[in-house]
Amino acid sequence: MASKTYKENQAVLIAPVMGTKIGQYELNQIVCGDVLEHLVSLPSQSVDLVIADPPYNLSQGAKINFNNQGLKGFGGEWNKVMEDWDNLPLGDYMRFTFDWISQIKRVLKPTGSIWVFGTYHNIGVVNLAFQMSKIEIINEVIWYKRNAFPNLAGRRLTASHETLLWGHTGEKKREYYFDYQKSKDFSDPSDLMKSEGKQMRTVWDIPNNKETRELQFGKHPTQKPLSVCNRIISISSKPEDVVLVPFAGAGTECLAAKESGRHFIGFELEQQYVDIANQRLSAANTALF
Ligand SMILES: C[S@@+](CC[C@H](N)C(=O)[O-])C[C@H]1O[C@@H](n2cnc3c(N)ncnc32)[C@H](O)[C@@H]1O
Repeated sequence: MASKTYKENQAVLIAPVMGTKIGQYELNQIVCGDVLEHLVSLPSQSVDLVIADPPYNLSQGAKINFNNQGLKGFGGEWNKVMEDWDNLPLGDYMRFTFDWISQIKRVLKPTGSIWVFGTYHNIGVVNLAFQMSKIEIINEVIWYKRNAFPNLAGRRLTASHETLLWGHTGEKKREYYFDYQKSKDFSDPSDLMKSEGKQMRTVWDIPNNKETRELQFGKHPTQKPLSVCNRIISISSKPEDVVLVPFAGAGTECLAAKESGRHFIGFELEQQYVDIANQRLSAANTALF
């Protein structure tokens, strides 16, 4: 939990981004620790883009851990990860979500924007927190996972999408950065919803597959494919921008930022994931940019 309140931290909120530092933090690193403790130390209006993949809080009560290894090509449904960080009572989860989103509202530039991943388990809470924090929703994007893992019990439809909320903090006018031309020019032959030269829609057809290099240093139970993060970064940020990743996990969003010539700062609770992320970042292919 946050060690200082927002007001107590006003005194240290100076000089947003100075060279390679953002407030007290060196840029281009993942800091191991609680996101709320670190967010309060970031200067106001200091980051250009936030990509947040928070706990979805969907592990409540269950003792199972779906393991779809061996069913190649199905890409996986979301996992009940059975970690404490994914298993909060609803009231605590709501408070946690409101707390980190209100800090994001403070640290994000009016020219910037925030993307949050979720499913029906948590995205309603995120939506409410956006509205309460006066973060205007720009779009709701459906990430359609064509290769979703089938529903084994046969008691539900096959869950085959995740939801992203994209919002901005500008209050008087919409100043957020959006590369409309890039979004139109974007082409991915495997995405049946996107034709080059046509407007990008709010349904993204991206399989939940990871390339070998994405898993070579170890796995995270809810690791995102680089392709989703690359798309977000390319349409909503510029080279040299600062990307904040509040829940860095195995570092996918940070790696996407690095490989596309953006700066990043990440926070992650678990050292084991920071270690994987650091190995991935060391092996980054910056020639891609
Ligand atoms: C959904 S995962 C992010 C996975 C990441 N997108 C990736 O591709 O590797 C959420 C991460 O948030 C971390 N986390 C949970 N609670 C946290 C907290 N209070 N502060 C910082 N990190 C936290 C978890 O350890 C977990 O790695």
